[in-house]
Amino acid sequence: MSMIVHISDTHFGTEVPAVTDAALRCIRALRPEVVILSGDVTQRARAEEFRAAQNFLAELGTETLVIPGNHDIPLDRPLQRLFSPYAEYRRTFGERECFWQGQRAAIVGLDATSPLRHTRGAVGLDHLSVTIEAARQKLASDAILIVAIHQPLHTAWDEDRKEVLIDSRDIACVLSRLGADVVLSGHVHVPLATTSRAVNSALSRHFILAGAGTVVSRRTRSGTPNSFNTIQVGDGATPDIVLTRFDFDAASGEFQGADPLRFRQTNEGWV
Ligand SMILES: [Fe+2]
Ligand SMILES: [Fe+2]
Repeated sequence: MSMIVHISDTHFGTEVPAVTDAALRCIRALRPEVVILSGDVTQRARAEEFRAAQNFLAELGTETLVIPGNHDIPLDRPLQRLFSPYAEYRRTFGERECFWQGQRAAIVGLDATSPLRHTRGAVGLDHLSVTIEAARQKLASDAILIVAIHQPLHTAWDEDRKEVLIDSRDIACVLSRLGADVVLSGHVHVPLATTSRAVNSALSRHFILAGAGTVVSRRTRSGTPNSFNTIQVGDGATPDIVLTRFDFDAASGEFQGADPLRFRQTNEGWV
């Protein structure tokens, strides 16, 4: 069984120290193969916020992947936003997109941000196709392909639907055609666990949608604690995927795992 930890929306600059320490304890104890942070790493894209994020990731004691979110471009410094929007991100993490290959799964991290948009994300369909096809060619046919994009294809709450990726139905078609198995997202600070049927029920092969809440920021939504997800890939020839959400429990000061959700592969993709 291979385990990936998915965290999102750390918003360093607004982190809660007790929650940050609890997240470090819990994730270290899980001993994941890799941790992916799906954007909004910082609150205002400041150098000290990126440094705090880098220190946090280093303390996890495992390999880490990062993609940017809309908050990782300076919002309140127009000149920097215009002329060097990704300067601090690049200095800290290098490339804005990533590819990682593990034992049973691979992760493609895509950048959906733009200095010209404030919150909404977009991924060009051509770029998406070329990137996913290139990743697929490197993988065994039974490898699980996980795609991470900051903004979601679907949201748990109706009021957040305005936050979904631009052209989300078209993006879902491309991801389905190219055999994506799981799509990770953040951005709305409300966890999500469903399948691509929520975006487009007519897709020929469905994939899993797994959204993570904010892991350490005080910017939680009403009734929604800090959280993160684990994705476990089974060892069989047609492996199951188990998605588990870990919520911060204020009483114990620790993250606690919720009931795991098991997804299996059928002729119509994941159910
Ligand atoms: Fe966020
Ligand atoms: Fe965001």
